[in-house]
Amino acid sequence: MAQQVKAVIARAKGAPVEVTTIVVPDPGPGEAVVRIQACGVCHTDLHYREGGINDEFPFLLGHEAAGIVESVGEGVTEVEPGDFVVLNWRAVCGQCRACKRGRPQYCFNTHNAKQKMTLLDGTELSPALGIGAFAEKTLVAAGQCTKVDPAAEPAVAGLLGCGVMAGLGAAINTGGVGRGDSVAVIGCGGVGGAAVMGSRLAGAAKIIAVDIDDRKLETARKLGATHTVNSRTTDAVEAIRELTGGNGADVVVEAVGRPETYKQAFYARDLAGTVVLVGVPTPEMTLELPLLDVFGRGGALKSSWYGDCLPSRDFPMLIDLYLQGRLDLGAFVTETIELDAVEQAFERMHHGDVLRSVVVL
Ligand SMILES: NC(=O)c1ccc[n+]([C@@H]2O[C@H](COP(=O)([O-])OP(=O)(O)OC[C@H]3O[C@@H](n4cnc5c(N)ncnc54)[C@H](O)[C@@H]3O)[C@@H](O)[C@H]2O)c1
Ligand SMILES: [Zn+2]
Ligand SMILES: [Zn+2]
Repeated sequence: MAQQVKAVIARAKGAPVEVTTIVVPDPGPGEAVVRIQACGVCHTDLHYREGGINDEFPFLLGHEAAGIVESVGEGVTEVEPGDFVVLNWRAVCGQCRACKRGRPQYCFNTHNAKQKMTLLDGTELSPALGIGAFAEKTLVAAGQCTKVDPAAEPAVAGLLGCGVMAGLGAAINTGGVGRGDSVAVIGCGGVGGAAVMGSRLAGAAKIIAVDIDDRKLETARKLGATHTVNSRTTDAVEAIRELTGGNGADVVVEAVGRPETYKQAFYARDLAGTVVLVGVPTPEMTLELPLLDVFGRGGALKSSWYGDCLPSRDFPMLIDLYLQGRLDLGAFVTETIELDAVEQAFERMHHGDVLRSVVVL
């Protein structure tokens, strides 16, 4: 029996989000219905609402979620009803050229539920990142459910489903930060803050947090930054170079998604250093750099989708570190809110008042 549940949708470009009733079908082959317990508010949800991702309105927003598997469809073996799971947007296929080469973290053919959730009038919804979890229940592909230790707080665990994983992975997986490295992180919201935390976890010797908002720099210190730079008042490139013996950082993570901050990252890294772009640009943005500088500085210019994570490998491990007190994922939960407060949470995010607001159901 299809079920009717409450959910948050974005009906049209720029219009405030609204709570409405949606229809969630029974899980078909390879699918699962998950009762959502918590879902973080990510900048990408706002990008969807503003039409910055695509035009497939109405969107069912929310994608940083944890919950309990309620039912599974035919052929599902990886999870069963009652499992505590974090939802992921990288259900790997096992068949594409990346998977076949043993690099499933780059899977080029990830999958989502085949059936559509709808409005009461039958209008099909586009779930954000194939998840759609600002909802009492959602339908996903079973591979999007990653089992983790149920001792973890849902509001905390869910954050691994997107931004926090993206930031941790940008440093650890994509940037390859290691013991003794110097790291600079430009933009210290939820994603950049997690890159700071990941750098500390990986043993970085120097972690320079850069933001235009002093409140973010203060939290970045708590998350592990050894130095902070307010780039509204100080030249970020000069400051990072000064703090690294005039050389630049081994790894610079750009977690804003703008050409000017990318340029800062490019010039703030040491020779043969690595730039990781984890911030998401919008379609009209372009970048101009002297090609000779690209060549002459050597090293690597990388981008990081989802922190190059493999959910089945990374989520349970990070949750274990959190439960052992070795990774303070709880620091990202600024506030917990109800389903009908997502619009206000966007406002607070826009004003930089929060790392993460988390809807708790
Ligand atoms: N690559 C991925 O897989 C992935 C996943 C999730 C989010 N993201 C993207 O990461 C970016 C950050 O997301 P978030 O949730 O942390 O957002 P956020 O709004 O919480 O954080 C952005 C931070 O950047 C700072 N900032 C803005 N302009 C700046 C500038 N010119 N210089 C320095 N700092 C500046 C803000 O003060 C804020 O602290 C977004 O573009 C988001 O879409 C990427
Ligand atoms: Zn694949
Ligand atoms: Zn996200």
